[in-house]
Formats: sequence, C-alpha cells, structure tokens
Amino acid sequence: MKVKSSFRSLWKYLSIYKKNIFLILILILCTTLLSLAGPYLMGYLIDNGILKGNLDLVVKYLTILGFIYLLNSLSSWLQNYLMTGVAQNSVKKLREDVFEKVESLPLNYFDTRPIGDVMSRMTNDIDLISNSLTQTFIQVISSVLTVTGILIVMFSLNWILALSLGLSIPIILGLALLFSARVKDNFTKQQESLGTLNGVIKEGVKGQKVLRVFGAEHHFFERFEKANASLKHNGIKAQAVSSSMTGIMNFINNASFAIVVLIGGILAARDYITIGLITSFINYARQFTRPLGQLAGQYSQIQSAMASTDRVFEILNEESEANIDDPIDKSYSIDGEVIFKDVSFSYDKKVPILRNISFNIKPGKTMAIVGPTGSGKTTIINLLTRFYEIDEGKIYVDDKSIKDIPKNQLRSRLGIVLQNNYIFSGTIKDNILYGKEDATNEEVINAAKAANVHDFIESMPNGYDTKVGKGGGILSEGQKQLLSIARTILSDPDVLILDEATSSIDTKTELQVQNALSKLMSHRTSFVIAHRLKTIKNADTILVIKAGEKIEEGNHNELMDKEGFYYTLYTSQMKNMK
Ligand SMILES: Nc1ncnc2c1ncn2[C@@H]1O[C@H](COP(=O)(O)OP(=O)(O)OP(=O)(O)O)[C@@H](O)[C@H]1O
Ligand SMILES: [Mg+2]
Repeated sequence: MKVKSSFRSLWKYLSIYKKNIFLILILILCTTLLSLAGPYLMGYLIDNGILKGNLDLVVKYLTILGFIYLLNSLSSWLQNYLMTGVAQNSVKKLREDVFEKVESLPLNYFDTRPIGDVMSRMTNDIDLISNSLTQTFIQVISSVLTVTGILIVMFSLNWILALSLGLSIPIILGLALLFSARVKDNFTKQQESLGTLNGVIKEGVKGQKVLRVFGAEHHFFERFEKANASLKHNGIKAQAVSSSMTGIMNFINNASFAIVVLIGGILAARDYITIGLITSFINYARQFTRPLGQLAGQYSQIQSAMASTDRVFEILNEESEANIDDPIDKSYSIDGEVIFKDVSFSYDKKVPILRNISFNIKPGKTMAIVGPTGSGKTTIINLLTRFYEIDEGKIYVDDKSIKDIPKNQLRSRLGIVLQNNYIFSGTIKDNILYGKEDATNEEVINAAKAANVHDFIESMPNGYDTKVGKGGGILSEGQKQLLSIARTILSDPDVLILDEATSSIDTKTELQVQNALSKLMSHRTSFVIAHRLKTIKNADTILVIKAGEKIEEGNHNELMDKEGFYYTLYTSQMKNMK
C-alpha cells in the first residue's frame, strides 16, 4: 500500500529516535488516561461529596483532581516537546540528504524538470512533513485513544446514555469526511494559486528592465491581476468551506450534548442515574466529539504529508552521478591529451546534436572550436566534463576512456570558464576562492591580477571583502567574467576550457586578459570557444562545427587557404571591423 511505503521511507529517519518515540507513545497514553479520569472523579465527587455534604471528601477529591490536571498538562507539554525534537531532527537530516542529493544529480535531471518544482519539494514539501510530524502525529494517536477510551468508559457507566451519544458518531464522521475532502481540495487550490502568484511576482521583479523597455508593464500587470484575483477567490472559498465545517460540527456537538442532557434528565428524574453520572457524561461528551471531528481532518492532513513524502523521496531515490562523493586524489594530474573518436550525442535521444565528432589534441596545445550559434560547441565541452554521457564513440584523456576516470577526479583537473558564470552571494574573495578553498591571500591577489581584475577590486569600497549579491548583482557582465577567470586561474587546472570567456569584456581589456590567458594556456591543453575569431587566430588547431558536424579542421592559415566556411566567417568579420 502507498501509505505504508511512504511511512517506511520516513521511518528510516524517525527510527533514529526510536526511544523518544516510544516515550512519546507512553506519554500520550498517560495523558489520555488522565483526561479520562477527570470527569469520572468529578461525578464521584458530586454524588458522594457535594450531594451528601461530605466536605472532607470534596477537599480530598478536589486535591486529587488538581493534581491530575497538573500532571495532564505536564505530560502533554513533555510529549509535544519531545515530538518537536524528533520531528525537527529527522527533518533536518532529511533536508541535508535531499540537498546533497540535488547537488549530486546528473545535470540532465534538471533539463526536463522546472527548477521551481525541485525547489518546492525541498522547501514546501519538507515543511509540510515537518509540521505533520510535529502536530498531526500526536493528535491522531491521542484522538484515536481518546475516542476509544471514552466509548469504553461511557458504556461501562450507562449504556443507554452511551448509545444515545454513540448515535452521533456516524453523523459526525460522515460529515467530517465529506467536508474535509472539500476543505482539502479548496486549500490545495489556494496553495496552487499562491504558487502561481509567487511565480508571476518573481518574474515581474526579475524581468523589470525588459518590461520597462518594451512598455509592457501594463500587459504584465494584467497577468498579475489575474493571478491575484484567483488567489482571492480561492482563499475566500477555502475559508468559507472550512468555517462552515466548524459551524456544523459545533452544531452537532451541541445537539448531542442536548440529547445527553435530555435523556440524562429523564433517567435521573426516575432515579435510574445520579446527578454526578450526568455530569461525568456531559464532560465525556464534550471531550468526545472534538477528536472525532478532528480525525477526518487529520486523515486528510496525513494524506497530504504522505504525498509530500513521496515527492521528496522521489528525489532521494534518483540515481546520483557515479563516484561523485568519492574523495579526490590530490596528487592526480593529467598530461592533457584529449581524443574524441566518432562521438555522437543528443540531449533527449530524439534530436541528434553532435554527429561523429573526431579530433585529437596533444598535451599543451590549444584547440579552438568555432561555429554558428547552436552548432554544438558548448555541448562538446559538456561531454568532456561528463555533465552528459555520450551515446556513441569514445572520449579519451591521456589514453584512458573518461568513463574509467571518476567524474570528480576528472573535473578536479579541468578548469572551465563558462558562457554564463555564476557569482555566489558573499564577498569577491569568497567567489575567487571557489577555485581553491585553501588559497592564501597572496594567491588570490595574484590570480586577480592575472585576470586583470585586481585594480577594479581595489577600487571597490571594501576591496576583496566587498559583498556581491546573489548572481553578482552589483557587477557588470564583464566583471563577472573576469572574476570567473580569476577563479579558474587560481584552480591551476591541467586542461583549460574557455567557453566565450571574454565575450562580455571590452576589446582593450580583452587584449590584456588574452595575454594573461596565453600565459596560462602556454603549458596546458586548452579549448577555446569564441565567436570573435581574432581571439583564436593563434590556436594550434581550429575545429569548425556546423549543425553538430565537424566540417573543417586546421590552423588559421590552412583554413584561410582552403577558402571554406571558416574563410567566409573570418573575412566577413574582418570586413565588419573596418
Ligand atoms: N540541456 C539541453 N537540452 C536539450 N537541448 C539542448 C540542451 N543544451 C543545448 N541544447 C541544444 O543543443 C544544440 C547545441 O547547443 P550548444 O549549447 O552546444 O550550442 P553552441 O554551439 O555552444 O552555441 P552558442 O554559440 O550559442 O553558445 C542547440 O540546438 C541547443 O538547443
Ligand atoms: Mg555555447
């Protein structure tokens, strides 16, 4: 059964706190028994103490009652306290595991799934599990225990009264089930509307510039208005349904209360039962209908929690990239020969992206990859780094198929400046340190100098300690690229990969950075992807890719003599420069 399998998954995390959970169960039992004892003693006190004028007994029983209520509060406080600990600790571990998992998933996992969905599983779903564990777990058990306990006690006290109250059980349960399904539906709709609205708001804030440039604020505002109105509508509906449920429950509650009083009154008038017994009964009746009505709500809460558990464990059960967490052998290094042999690849196994790509680059040499937008240049790099696995052919690094080199080991020796680099929130220095965690200040500064970004950093109010927002908010695109280059220089890789690394930098700075990069490239294998062909003129080999196929290969002069595709590209770029 589904519920069982979700619970089994979760139990792996809860079972660490088996002892506490056992203690909590005992405490719930104690609390329930103590709540059951209250009304019983109260009835006894009325019959034998108050009605008979026995003041000693009244005092004695009042003391006992006070003690029982005190114990009851203590025990329910303790069970909640313990349960919060269990829930928070298990959920913390769960969150850690999910985060680690997400960081180790193969990149193609994210190609087909919206990031928002993955994020929502990591935050909203885990939150829901946490809340359910903290609240619902105890509530369900104590509701079941209370309802059963009260039924037993009531029947043993007086079966006629118990039966008259028992008649309301099917009505309450039926109504509660009926309503809670509708309440849940409406709350789900409300959550969905909220999600949509959040998405629209996020886009509106992020895409502000584009909206303003195109004067499309009004158009976008309509989207916002629609989402906002839908949230209002669903919010009102959800509240209306849930409060009408509360109302009806209260009515039934009071009605059954009245029935007990009525029948109890008749029975008492004929001396079948005592006043004390009626008092006990009324108290039990009060305690009875509440958990009964809540059970249905808790049932649907459990269902949502189970659905969330499944959504979270779906991520956890995904296959991680192999060996991704293995320790890296620090002494490992590669000479840098890279061979592609008849490599074919497609992202979705439907549209072929690369077809029979073959090339060979000797250690220390520089290979440029050029070609039109979307021709597959970045894809070649994605395969070398094993972000994606090839469909056919072989890739060798130093005579070894890259399938036989642990991914993290391989990547530790590759230095990549990507087309769109990510700048993390933190200081400038933190961002450069991603290249080498334990680098000294001097190493960081040298890397920044080599990337021609040192002067700029120094000109900032706090220098290397200047905080940059998420995504590098305060930096220009070119500055972000320079920082990424510094990061890569610091990592001192065996194979350097520059994918449009200088595309956002002005030509003068580019020239300076090129000098630094040339120094860096001179003694290591390098791949350079660039649309500005001037920057790759000096490469040892130029690979020309068009629509996923290699159409030309050679150095600049050879390709120019050939007067083929490269020649056309180059001459047209030169013409435009003039
Ligand atoms: N994750 C992905 N899933 C599916 N298709 C993709 C993915 N990434 C890229 N593609 C497709 O693969 C093709 C090659 O993309 P690639 O990024 O390699 O081009 P490129 O040569 O680097 O282009 P550019 O010069 O614009 O950077 C494109 O048609 C692109 O739409
Ligand atoms: Mg690209």
